[in-house]
Formats: sequence, C-alpha cells, structure tokens
Amino acid sequence: MIVSEFVPKPYKFLLDSGSVTYNSPSNIALVKYWGKEAHQIPANPSISFTLNNCKTLTTLQFEKKTTKGFSFEVFFEGIIKNEFMPKIVQFFERIEVYLPFLSRYHFKIETSNTFPHSSGIASSASGMSALALCLVQLEQRLNPETTKAFFNKKASFLARLGSGSACRSIEGPLIVWGSHDNIIGSSDFLGIKYPYEVHPNFNNFCDTILLVDKGEKQVSSTVGHDLMHGHPFAEQRFAQAHTNIDALIKVFKTGDLSAFISIVEREALTLHAMMMSSDPYFTLMKPNTLEIINKIWAFRKKTGLHICFTLDAGANVHVLFPENEANEIRQFVKASLIMHCQNEHFIEDNLGQGAQPIKI
Ligand code: PMV
Repeated sequence: MIVSEFVPKPYKFLLDSGSVTYNSPSNIALVKYWGKEAHQIPANPSISFTLNNCKTLTTLQFEKKTTKGFSFEVFFEGIIKNEFMPKIVQFFERIEVYLPFLSRYHFKIETSNTFPHSSGIASSASGMSALALCLVQLEQRLNPETTKAFFNKKASFLARLGSGSACRSIEGPLIVWGSHDNIIGSSDFLGIKYPYEVHPNFNNFCDTILLVDKGEKQVSSTVGHDLMHGHPFAEQRFAQAHTNIDALIKVFKTGDLSAFISIVEREALTLHAMMMSSDPYFTLMKPNTLEIINKIWAFRKKTGLHICFTLDAGANVHVLFPENEANEIRQFVKASLIMHCQNEHFIEDNLGQGAQPIKI
C-alpha cells in the first residue's frame, strides 16, 4: 500500500552533509490503540494526551555516499546500540518510498531520553517520532517549499510506520489517530489535533507517572497487538473504542471530570483485560499496580478530588488530574503511592504542545 500524497517529486539537489536535531515527546492514550492490520493500520481509533517532560532528543547527521543500501549507526546516550538497528532497518524499508534519499546517505543517529530507558514509558513513541521528524526536516531542506501543515502530516504519517502510537507525538495537546465517524479529518494513516472544543478543565492536565517496574516487558506490544487477531472479544472491544471516543467528545465539551474518569479508567482496564484474555494470555500489571489503583480509588472516594489512572502496555501507572487540584493530589502521591514504585521513582509531567526543532 502506497499513499501517493506522501511520495515526493524528484529532488532537485541533494545536500552533501549536515545534521538536524529534534526533540519529541511521549504521549499517553486515553482511548487505547490495541490491535492492528498490515501497514500499521489501527484496528480502532485512539486519542491521547501529548506529554511535556518525557522526551527523546535525536540528532541525525547525514553524509552523502555512493554505495547501495541503507547505512547508519545508532548511539543511545553516547553508546553504540546495535540492538536498535533491526527496528530502524524495518522502519527505513517501510518509508523508503516516501523518502527516496534514505539510501543515498550514511546516517549517524544520536539519541537520548529525558526519562529512564525501558522504564515502560513509551520510548518508541518519542524515539520514532523524533527520528521521523529529523528525516522530514532533512527532506524539507531538499524541498524548501513544503508547508508546516504538510510537514507535520508527513512526520506523523512516517512516525506511524515506525511505531503506531508515535504518530500521536508530533503535535499536542490532544491527538486523534484512526478514523472515527464523528471526528472530522481523522485518519488511519496519521494523527491529527483534536478538532473540537476542549473545556478549560483540561488545560494543563497533569500526569504523574509512577515507575512500578522498569524492567523489560515480558510481552512486547507487537506480540500483544497481534494477539487481537482471533481474540474472542476483539470486535466488541474495537466497537467500544468508537463509543468511548463519542463519549469523550461530549466530556471535552462539557468538562465533566467524573465522566472523564470513568471512560479513562475503563479503557485502561479493558486494555489489560484484552491481554489477560488473549491466547496465549498474559499480564503486565504487577501487585504494586493494583495497590496503587486501589489507593487512588479510596482517596478519590474520601476526598471527591478528580484523580484517576491510566495504564500503558506495562506495569507503570499514569496518575491523571486537573491542574487546580494538583497540590493536594501531588501530596497524596508522594505520601502514599511512590512507596510502590521501583526505587521510589516517578516523573511529574503535564500536557505538552508536541515536538520541537532544536537544529534545522
Ligand atoms: O505504538 P505501539 O505499537 O507500541 O502500541 C502502543 C499501545 C498502547 O500504548 C498500549 C496504547 C496506545 O494507544 O498508546
């Protein structure tokens, strides 16, 4: 499948060498993407908050070459990382038709995260989006007439081919990916900014990430997505995601935080319920994940504050809350929840506006 809109006209020239740098954030889904078809087409639409502090910084150095094929080296926090290469080769293979210059350069990819690697935070989202942005920026230098809107679309389109959720990291603060009947412009190919009214209750919404388990995941997202094929509850789940997005459209308009909480927590638990009912079944939650969830429920009941949680494909807990309740909730998190984190590690984050160019 080739989406012709993103295949460029032949470049008039190639630069000999240079470098570009971008930083790109992670994102946290409210309605989850879990299950996909070929070419990274999501089985259902998803919607996410773009984060502000959890970012990947990537520098791409390029130098013209005459040999055939892809050539690159990749460094993570200054150390060569050959184990990252297969994923990047796969990414390059998928996107070469959209960036025909890829085999004309040798690349040095240098990347680092503001958060611990393998902390269960979606480093593939920030990492792949940062790399996609560097590549589109290089193309921009070959084709300077590209508009900002097209630049963002192409970056999201390419990022998706690296890691699905990465397409939701280009912009912020609220991004939709996957076609939904009631969201104009929504697409299976790329993320778009949520196009409707958002109540001020969601301005600067906070996300404190509790790092319950920083180890490698026992089951990768790739395997998890695949297990949705033939899953007995798949069709109902995909339909539920559409319904939950409809419900969120209303919530974003009215600012109804109680309704927000029930949609977001149900989504998180449904994601994990899908894992626990796959064949083979698995679970990524840990005892401390449940400890935290139970404490959040008890604290919410006692105080009436609008704290809730969501989960990624891992054991860590994202604690979500509105900015005007942040003082009390942060105190509670520190006093009662971080004891359940590995080495008491947690990250205070909030909504962000998306990726930023550092050197173009
Ligand atoms: O982008 P992937 O293939 O790593 O999948 C991410 C899936 C979830 O994080 C579990 C949900 C989501 O929508 O981000």
